[in-house]
Amino acid sequence: METAAPIPASQCEPVPQPEGKKVKLWINDRLVEAPQGMNLLEICRSQGIDIPSLCYLPGIHEAGICRVCLVEVEANGRRALQASCVYPATEGIKVYTHSPRARRARKRVVELLLTEHKGECPACVRNLTCELQRLAGEMGIRRVRATGERRRYPVANKNPFIIRDYNKCIRCRRCETVCREIQGVGVLGPRNRGFDLVIGPPFGRDLGEVDCISCGQCVMVCPTGALAERVLPGEEPITACCIRE
Ligand code: FES
Repeated sequence: METAAPIPASQCEPVPQPEGKKVKLWINDRLVEAPQGMNLLEICRSQGIDIPSLCYLPGIHEAGICRVCLVEVEANGRRALQASCVYPATEGIKVYTHSPRARRARKRVVELLLTEHKGECPACVRNLTCELQRLAGEMGIRRVRATGERRRYPVANKNPFIIRDYNKCIRCRRCETVCREIQGVGVLGPRNRGFDLVIGPPFGRDLGEVDCISCGQCVMVCPTGALAERVLPGEEPITACCIRE
């Protein structure tokens, strides 16, 4: 079985919402009715409004981590930037998805993510299928303006099937969620804090040194090349799920 390229979250099907109380809100000056509590990102997408997202996986990982989906929300007389993937539909709020402030903020967020990302796109296994690369292209980001200290980690490659390159990780934590919630394995999690935060196995171990079952689900949901199938020269990519007797 060949692992397919991950589906960008923006192309995923909207999550069916339970029937319940409806609320009325304004989206770009248009009155819209939506189930109470449904997140703004899904509502906007159901209205044909495209808002970029990165860490969001509908129904699986809705944590509001990356902030790529920022929109402006006016509520209680205050207008502020909010992550649309976790902001619930609320009666009477006004949402501005493409105001100059919202667009500028989303672009800054992607630029900041790029400052922490090893930019070797032409040589990366995810070149042209990388979600971060696609977003940067769509937003017209041609260079990373911020400079400063960068993290440098050796590539973790003791797992026979999966390579973990922390230098490309944007810490969206999708891998952690699928490993724990979907596969029930839970060998990935946060380590350290702030600038030194990494998402990986505990105690600085390699994926090859913990109870990873090499299912490849983390690779499937990784938006960049931070998790990739290990491909040896002349060999097809393989995960444990591919092995047949
Ligand atoms: Fe909303 Fe990441 S997609 S915070």
